[in-house]
Amino acid sequence: MAVETKTYGVAIFGTGRISGAHARAAQSVEGAHLVGAAEVDQERAQAFADKWECEVVPDYKSLLRRKDVDIVALTLPHWLHEPIGIEAAEAGKHIFVEKPMADSVEECDRMIDAARRNGVKLFTGHTEQFLAPNVKARELIQSGEIGQPVMLTDCWYKAFALHTRPPWFLDRSKGGGMWLMNGTHMIDRITFILNTRIKAVKAQIGTKYNDINADDYAAAYLDTELGVPATIAHTGYKDTPGAGVEQSGGEIIISCTEGMLKVVDRRQLFRSAAGDKRGGTWEEVQLDRVDTTSLELQRLIENIRDNTPETVSVEQARHIVQVMTACEESSRTGREVLLNA
Ligand SMILES: NC(=O)c1ccc[n+]([C@@H]2O[C@H](COP(=O)([O-])OP(=O)(O)OC[C@H]3O[C@@H](n4cnc5c(N)ncnc54)[C@H](O)[C@@H]3O)[C@@H](O)[C@H]2O)c1
Repeated sequence: MAVETKTYGVAIFGTGRISGAHARAAQSVEGAHLVGAAEVDQERAQAFADKWECEVVPDYKSLLRRKDVDIVALTLPHWLHEPIGIEAAEAGKHIFVEKPMADSVEECDRMIDAARRNGVKLFTGHTEQFLAPNVKARELIQSGEIGQPVMLTDCWYKAFALHTRPPWFLDRSKGGGMWLMNGTHMIDRITFILNTRIKAVKAQIGTKYNDINADDYAAAYLDTELGVPATIAHTGYKDTPGAGVEQSGGEIIISCTEGMLKVVDRRQLFRSAAGDKRGGTWEEVQLDRVDTTSLELQRLIENIRDNTPETVSVEQARHIVQVMTACEESSRTGREVLLNA
């Protein structure tokens, strides 16, 4: 059988904070090459062109017209994921959209519909599913080695860093706020590690520290289909630039019937020491570091080549948005929100 030799041209839309990871992936993953990028901010465009030695144009539509572009990486403000994602699908391009897929379930549905109608892949960059500690934690739980999971808590705190945030991030109507940015990761990793879906939520999400039209803290209770309760605590606290006291970090603790797991700062995995009945003694699980964006692009290319469903399924990416927005609704109404399938 002939071996597929095509390399897939990648164009990156938006050269902000996360775009470098996509450029590195497009330049290093076998079967991919970086064609160019689109960016409306001239200074950022120039910096990206210099660093990655590629063309950067102001209008993404010109890249959508190019035959040598097969995949578009959407590293754009959240509110642009849907309209530009649909345009890309209509232009016959496969889509590698950064998380969250979009700002609402309705937007996700329109994107999924456009991708399916045009026969292109719609792969959402849910990084957490590729991080080594999360992958290993899920494996350990699945193996039954530490018994059955009984509870999960996920805590993440960081400085809001108001002075560094782009205007869209300060406005929920444009997909701004910590919840859509980081809550996405937390819901993703909880459902991934436990291999379950969420059936009900109760949450409080609001603005405590910064004078903005978007949230900067969240607390949520998630009822999983597995029956394992999960909680989220997240804060983007008010920092004082230059004060030198900014702290950030996070821990996920998963209690199981025969042991515990702890993921620290998205980098390390610990398990409770064998025979430690009272808890508190941890042993680190040694893991190799991975380049998550490269892994994601690699999977997307395999999905395209083999015509297999997206490794991060559209249903999973949509479910995460459904949970995020259900938590917002719960916060608004003060009630528990049940999720329909
Ligand atoms: N996976 C992760 O860990 C991770 C980390 C950070 C951000 N993200 C995601 O990446 C995406 C982008 O976030 P960011 O922090 O890089 O945002 P950002 O604001 O830093 O970058 C977005 C860029 O898009 C550009 N842009 C806006 N409109 C455009 C248009 N019409 N055409 C071309 N360029 C346009 C902006 O000028 C900006 O440079 C979001 O979905 C975010 O959630 C993921």
